[in-house]
Amino acid sequence: MPVFLPVIFPNLPSMIKTFVNISLLCVAIMSFTGCYYDVEDELYPDNNASCDTTAVNFAVVKPIFDAKCVGCHGGASPSAGIKLDTYTDAKVYLDASASRLVSSVKHDGNASNMPQGQPKLDACDISKISAWVSAGYPEN
Ligand code: HEC
Repeated sequence: MPVFLPVIFPNLPSMIKTFVNISLLCVAIMSFTGCYYDVEDELYPDNNASCDTTAVNFAVVKPIFDAKCVGCHGGASPSAGIKLDTYTDAKVYLDASASRLVSSVKHDGNASNMPQGQPKLDACDISKISAWVSAGYPEN
């Protein structure tokens, strides 16, 4: 920084040069950290303002299960005997172990982390599943 400034502003008094140097350094740092810390999901993992968790029914969680779970928890030989492909199938497991399903997607240590071998679901999907189970996993 001090090396190239005299090239841009050859006649500036040295105090001003120092001030300009520090300002440029601040702007550089702020532009890096600004981009990183503005990731909303990381700042507010459980309080995502754009995540609608009101009136969550099976139609809302089914696309999440279909995309992330049914590959293993569906069909003729589902993993751990847990089927999530239809409402009736999901209800069988939830009636017995609803809290384990929520724990598994939250990775809170009270059940195996799901989806197995894959990254955690995004915060909004976890909030939706959690809200659905808390509401008594309504079908409609
Ligand atoms: C790659 C295959 C795979 C995927 C994808 C997967 N699971 Fe599983 N799941 C398993 C296997 C295998 C087990 C049994 C072994 C274990 O508990 O780790 C299991 C167990 C579970 C259990 C019981 C955990 C316990 O500790 O009692 C729950 C609940 C569960 N899965 C829910 C889900 C949900 C919800 C999703 C989607 C978000 C999902 N799984 C995605 C393979 C998978």
